[in-house]
Amino acid sequence: MFNAEPSVKALVPFVSVHNMMRLVHHIGIETVLSELTDAIEADFRRWPMFDKTPRIASHSRDGVIELMPTSDGVVYGFKYVNGHPKNTAEGLQTVTAFGLLADVATGYPVLLTEMTLLTALRTAATSAMAARYLAPAGARCMAMIGNGAQAEFQALAMKAVCGIDSVRLYDIDPQATEKTRRNLEGSGLTVVACTSGEAAIEGAGIVTTCTADKQFATILTDNMIGTGVHINAIGGDCPGKTELHRDILRRADTFVEFPPQTRIEGEIQQMEADYPVIELWRVVNGEVPGRRDARQVTLFDSVGFAIEDFSALRYVRDWVAGTDFQQSLDMIADPDDPRDLFGMLQRAH
Ligand SMILES: NC(=O)c1ccc[n+]([C@@H]2O[C@H](COP(=O)([O-])OP(=O)(O)OC[C@H]3O[C@@H](n4cnc5c(N)ncnc54)[C@H](O)[C@@H]3O)[C@@H](O)[C@H]2O)c1
Repeated sequence: MFNAEPSVKALVPFVSVHNMMRLVHHIGIETVLSELTDAIEADFRRWPMFDKTPRIASHSRDGVIELMPTSDGVVYGFKYVNGHPKNTAEGLQTVTAFGLLADVATGYPVLLTEMTLLTALRTAATSAMAARYLAPAGARCMAMIGNGAQAEFQALAMKAVCGIDSVRLYDIDPQATEKTRRNLEGSGLTVVACTSGEAAIEGAGIVTTCTADKQFATILTDNMIGTGVHINAIGGDCPGKTELHRDILRRADTFVEFPPQTRIEGEIQQMEADYPVIELWRVVNGEVPGRRDARQVTLFDSVGFAIEDFSALRYVRDWVAGTDFQQSLDMIADPDDPRDLFGMLQRAH
């Protein structure tokens, strides 16, 4: 007889956008950012254990759709994410995402979740983790150039993890800057809206660029970067899409996630193939130093790597287990006899 109720084995825990927002408010956003930073750092420390591949990108005229898989041999995860800078003009977001975790032993999914919010959180947490090792000692002020969807998350992670107390904003669109200023009111950060990139970087020990444009852009030129600054370059993350003038790269010590991916997608795509980079995971596990002196210009050439999403997915799975932050999705066909998939379909008629 056909049983309309899915079995337990058919059900996959699902975190909707609504529940992700409830979860973040339940925990507190700065706590989420701090805990995610620690979770990502723990996975960077065991970097060699992971399967690693540059993400699989499908480029089109106006954007890119990417799949980002990895596994630590016990759990497998992937994220679907897009990047379409022109979307905001049409009322759509530049970046949206969802992701999945699966049990390596059986291949069965153990979590499906929204990741548009989670990507903003994990990207900010990764920035903060890098800044822990690379920002000048005692940096209290950051510049945030590009005041779109990621901006507030970036600022709050630097506050929660690195002790930043003021942020100087700039965007070519003053409405974006005003949105970010308003959203950060009451956050405890001193927020200064600026009318140029030059003004925004004044006195900033950390300069974050997070702009979206499907072309080579020059958000920062060499003369804008004084000694001792840490640059956190987020927005250049696709072939043909960069934010920094290459002269900055000549002066900076450049730290990256996964070199084979960053050489295709990061700021360093502008440089020769043997341009020296330092893998961030080696800094995190103590093999090589991060910031060595107060005059050094450091650059985190961030493009976003699958292991950061894996850490975020596991963080969410651990939090939502057994709570009403997750719903059950009838997602895996579960015939009574595993080999009688057709019979299950027939009986449902
Ligand atoms: N490295 C990562 O892990 C990672 C993760 C998420 C997003 N990103 C990238 O970060 C970028 C920003 O993402 P978002 O979701 O905030 O996009 P968004 O479209 O919401 O915001 C981008 C902002 O950049 C501004 N901008 C564009 N050109 C500028 C310029 N020349 N000077 C100053 N501001 C300028 C736009 O006006 C807009 O407000 C995108 O390129 C995205 O692909 C990277």
